[in-house]
Amino acid sequence: MKAVICTKYGTPEVLQIQEVSKPIPNDNQILVKVVATAVNSGDVRVRSLDVKGFMKVIMRLVLGISRPRKSILGVVFSGVVESIGDNVSKFKISDNVFGMTGFKFGTYAEYIAVNQNSNVLEMPKNATFEEAAAIIFGGQTAIHFLDKAKIAKKFNQKILIIGATGSVGTAAVQIAKHYNANITAVCSSNGHKLVSELEVKNIVLYDKEDFISRVDRFNIIFDAVGKSNKNQCKNLLNENGVFKSVSSGYASESIQQLQLLKDLFEKRAFKATIDKTFPMDKIVDAHRYVGTGRKKGNVVLKISQ
Ligand SMILES: NC(=O)c1ccc[n+]([C@@H]2O[C@H](COP(=O)([O-])OP(=O)(O)OC[C@H]3O[C@@H](n4cnc5c(N)ncnc54)[C@H](OP(=O)(O)O)[C@@H]3O)[C@@H](O)[C@H]2O)c1
Repeated sequence: MKAVICTKYGTPEVLQIQEVSKPIPNDNQILVKVVATAVNSGDVRVRSLDVKGFMKVIMRLVLGISRPRKSILGVVFSGVVESIGDNVSKFKISDNVFGMTGFKFGTYAEYIAVNQNSNVLEMPKNATFEEAAAIIFGGQTAIHFLDKAKIAKKFNQKILIIGATGSVGTAAVQIAKHYNANITAVCSSNGHKLVSELEVKNIVLYDKEDFISRVDRFNIIFDAVGKSNKNQCKNLLNENGVFKSVSSGYASESIQQLQLLKDLFEKRAFKATIDKTFPMDKIVDAHRYVGTGRKKGNVVLKISQ
C-alpha cells in the first residue's frame, strides 16, 4: 500500500510517499481502507520537532531520536472496514468508521488496522468522509479542555474563547454552544466571517482591539491557540473563574468524546469546518499550509475516493 513516510525531522519535504506492507489485522482488529485523514497542527509539530528547549529532548525520547519511530504520521481517519479479526463483534465489513489513533499515528496511509475497542466508532450517518476526518482532532481536544474547565457544571456560563478559528477553536465554540455557554470569541479580521458563521455574536478582533483590556468578566477563559497565559488574563476572570490553555498539558482522547462529536454532528449541532482538501500526493503542500498557523478550521488529506 501507499503511505506517507516521515523520513526524518525537518521541513515538509521530509515527507515522502512510499510503498509499504499493508497491515494484517489481528483477532481484535479491523482493517480500515482509509478514505480521508486530516493534517493537524500536531502532525506539523511532530514532523518539524518544533518545540522549545528541553521539550525537544523529551520529544526525541518519546517519538524517536533522529526520526519518528512511527514513520507514518497522522492521527485521525475515516474510511471503510475492509476485513475484521476473528474476535471482532463491534464492526462488520463495509461499515463506515472514523477515529483517532493518537500516539500510535499511522493514518497517512491507504490502510490502517485498529483495535475494535480503541478510539473508533461508526461514522455519523450524515457525514462525508472528509467531514468525519475533519471533526476529530479539534473536537476531541476542545472537549478535553472544556471538560477540565467544567463547562457542563452550570447553565449559561460566560466563556472567552481565544483563537476561535483554528481546529481546536472552531470546535470549542461549537462544544461551548452545546453547553449553552454565553460565548465571546477572539479572532483576527480574517477569521470574522468563519466565527460569525458559527453563530457567535460577541467577536473581538485581536488585530483591532486588545481583548485583555476589556471590562467583561468570564467564568471560563479557554485559549485554543496557546498564545496567552493566566496571568495576562487574570482581570478578565470573575471570582472562581477558570483559565485553560492548549499549552498547559496534553489532551487525552476518549471514546466518549468521539461519541459526543458523532451525536452532535448527527443532530446538526456540530459542523465540520474545512479550509482546504489536498490529495495524498500533495502532502508536502498540505504540511506547508498547516505550518503557516493561519488555517481556518481543518485541512483534510484525501487518501482514496
Ligand atoms: N495540549 C494538547 O494536547 C493540544 C492538542 C491539540 C492542539 N494543541 C495546540 O493547540 C494549538 C491550536 O491547535 P489548532 O490545531 O487549533 O491550530 P490551528 O488550526 O493551526 O490554528 C490556527 C488558527 O489560529 C489563529 N490564530 C493564530 N494566532 C492567533 C492569535 N494570536 N490569536 C487568536 N487566533 C490566532 C489563526 O488565524 P489568524 O492567523 O487569522 O488569527 C488560525 O485560524 C496549537 O498550538 C497546537 O499545538 C494542543
